Amino acid sequence: MRILVTGGCGFIGNHVVRNSLTIPGVELVVNLDALRYSGNPENLTDIDDDRYRFVHGSINDSDVVDGLIQDENISVVLHLAAESHVDRSINSVKPFIETNIDGTRVLLESVVKNSTDEHQIHFIHISTDEVYGSLGPDDDAFTEETPLNPQNPYAASKAASDMLVQAFINTHNLSAIITRCSNNYGPRQYPEKLIPLMTLNALDNKQLPVYGDGLQIRDWIHVEDHANGILSSMLALYVGQINSGEIFNFGADNEQRNIDIVREIVSQTNVSESLIHFVTDRPGHDKRYAMKYEKAEKILGWKPEIDWQVGLTETIEWYMTNPDWIQSSNLDANEVTLV
Ligand SMILES: NC(=O)c1ccc[n+]([C@@H]2O[C@H](COP(=O)([O-])OP(=O)(O)OC[C@H]3O[C@@H](n4cnc5c(N)ncnc54)[C@H](O)[C@@H]3O)[C@@H](O)[C@H]2O)c1
Repeated sequence: MRILVTGGCGFIGNHVVRNSLTIPGVELVVNLDALRYSGNPENLTDIDDDRYRFVHGSINDSDVVDGLIQDENISVVLHLAAESHVDRSINSVKPFIETNIDGTRVLLESVVKNSTDEHQIHFIHISTDEVYGSLGPDDDAFTEETPLNPQNPYAASKAASDMLVQAFINTHNLSAIITRCSNNYGPRQYPEKLIPLMTLNALDNKQLPVYGDGLQIRDWIHVEDHANGILSSMLALYVGQINSGEIFNFGADNEQRNIDIVREIVSQTNVSESLIHFVTDRPGHDKRYAMKYEKAEKILGWKPEIDWQVGLTETIEWYMTNPDWIQSSNLDANEVTLV
């Protein structure tokens, strides 16, 4: 198997790259990453493996994408490259349209162009629970059948790319699946997202800005569990255990309120609760996400393994004990004030 990962220097991508190299039969893993603000080459410096290759380039560049797929004889594309932060999409939609929609279009066209009956290229599209919209307090969790109802520009760009993938499956016989996951946490997440931002602010004794009443609920999953879900679905498609067109939700039965997570970080970093500062809510802030993942459990034999309390404690410790990584993430402290 010869894999092209897009966005491998990002938070989830680096875990996917590392874990993919442990799979028997993987001959090559090429990581195509444009090194945008959240992409950090330091995330993969520990990899010492001749089968791994990093290419600094954009998924929007069709010459680069075509060249890699042809020259490296790629058989699987794991597509994670994206603009991934909702707040940024509210301030400026264009990069989200360019990367998440048009970048996906470039990859899809290249995969279709370079696939033959003898050499089929499989496409794994990494999506999010946000495409389903927001749940009320008593609503059932999202299933793969839940209609798409994105509520912010990031979610809309992801939903659009999901639909483009489905259209390519239908019209071009593309071999592809879509995975949709809930909120990830773990080491090496760019510190603009809730858990690393709050941890680093607490360590610097800075205010902890919480949107609105802090009662927004997310289903938190460890990034390693998500990475393993992605790789299980990839293998199932590759060996023909599942058909093109399948969608898999990954979740963790772990609904947590933002404010409770912030309080846990306060407690674990030993700072005063008075640092918590409620700020004007994000416009259009989704209230609740929750995922059913029975399909992945039944068909892929996947389930989340990492306990939330253990995973959260280890994650907070990781940010506390890796100042060099924080330095390397080039966080502009003035750039990010909210989560
Ligand atoms: N973080 C989550 O909780 C979560 C949950 C569900 C799904 N997802 C999805 O998983 C994927 C990865 O998310 P993440 O949290 O790792 O994001 P991230 O922002 O940490 O990483 C994105 C990576 O993509 C790269 N990139 C951006 N534009 C590019 C381009 N044009 N060409 C090549 N590379 C480019 C960046 O440099 C970065 O390395 C995204 O598709 C996201 O929508 C994320």
